[in-house]
Amino acid sequence: MKLLIINGPNLNLLGNREPGTYGNETFESYFQKLQENFPNVELDYYQSNIEGEIINRLQAADGEFDGIVLNAAAYTHTSIGIGDAVKAISTPVVEVHISNTAAREEFRHRSFIAPNAKGVILGFGLQSYELAVRSFL
Ligand code: DQA
Repeated sequence: MKLLIINGPNLNLLGNREPGTYGNETFESYFQKLQENFPNVELDYYQSNIEGEIINRLQAADGEFDGIVLNAAAYTHTSIGIGDAVKAISTPVVEVHISNTAAREEFRHRSFIAPNAKGVILGFGLQSYELAVRSFL
């Protein structure tokens, strides 16, 4: 089983960014634990603040992975391009969010990814990623 985690804009700042909403842990630290917890899963990680780079990574990942865990962050709510890329590829994508976007501002309720995702996991903190990984097992 080979899975790719893609994180979008500002998620490189996890640990320092709005800790009340996103917690105190860096993604690098969490990712290391995730790899240790799933020794039989080959886990790759990619982060970009740039919309087109996320689209390029999704396209390049098609057929190379069994699944993709995607937190497109703010682009979730704005990017028709990322939504179209998720639709265009055949590798299944699970959308994740650290926070419960449904309980936050109205503009975070809309997702251009969800209609083409295998499923959506939100609101479990960084554990959302672990739940997404488990959904592929
Ligand atoms: C987020 C939720 C988004 O609304 C926000 O723009 C983010 C992070 C989350 O994981 O909770 O950057 O995707």
